[in-house]
Amino acid sequence: MTELKEVLLFAAKEAGKIIKHYFNGTFKIDNKTSINDLVTEVDKFSENKIIEIIRQYFPEHTIISEEVGELIQVSDYQWILDPIDGTVNFAHNIPICCVSIGLLYKGEIILGAVYNPMMDELFFAEKGNGATLNGVPISVSKKSEFKKACLVTGFPYKWPGDSHLHPIKVFERFIMQGLPIRRLGSAALDLCWVACGRFDGFWEYNLNSWDVAAGYLIVQEAGGRITNFDGELYNVFDKETLATNGLIHEEMLFLINKENG
Ligand code: IPD
Ligand code: CA
Ligand code: CA
Repeated sequence: MTELKEVLLFAAKEAGKIIKHYFNGTFKIDNKTSINDLVTEVDKFSENKIIEIIRQYFPEHTIISEEVGELIQVSDYQWILDPIDGTVNFAHNIPICCVSIGLLYKGEIILGAVYNPMMDELFFAEKGNGATLNGVPISVSKKSEFKKACLVTGFPYKWPGDSHLHPIKVFERFIMQGLPIRRLGSAALDLCWVACGRFDGFWEYNLNSWDVAAGYLIVQEAGGRITNFDGELYNVFDKETLATNGLIHEEMLFLINKENG
């Protein structure tokens, strides 16, 4: 495990250096699925660096990465990475973005790192060994009173059909409770900020495995709870993500699924 962990942390730090180097500078920006769904050349520089490092040490491992897709190998190990999570922030010089790298072994997430180089905050977790922020153990908040919770969410680029689970309707149900709700623009950081107690809960519809793989383990290892919107055991390929300190999970599930009002 040590070598896997070292490579994971090295790759996250090296990618972070690239992101920081270009932050607030000049770089090419392209569109993906829509005019505001962006990819910069820095996403690609960061991705190339991480893949180069993983390939150097573990050439036989599978890699799933946002911009290149799946580099499939016959391996029990799957690296799932987002070279910049929070690209829209990055492109607008907003320092809330990060690199996110998770490692699965036989389908189970065993290591995760999320690094925001602008704040120099490195979140890390190893299955069964807790979660840390810059080496210091972290844990989710202890807040049990839902009406005092501070929440965070995000919105998809593609909207689902009209139902009580439509993201705007769900958002409305939460906002009508009079709760403070933030939208950071980086799902990986949203999860980590739940893990370290800054937020008490996070929900989002339609995330991808690279957004959540590392943050999922970091929340779990920090003592939090993460499920889909049915409250079922989460896996990183789920399209519904609810992560909380555990204490307000049921209230959040209730509001997400409430059909009237
Ligand atoms: C996005 C961020 C954002 C979330 C979007 C993601 P990207 O990732 O995580 O918070 O709301 O759904 O696509 O595009 O910046 O890597
Ligand atoms: Ca992302
Ligand atoms: Ca990305």
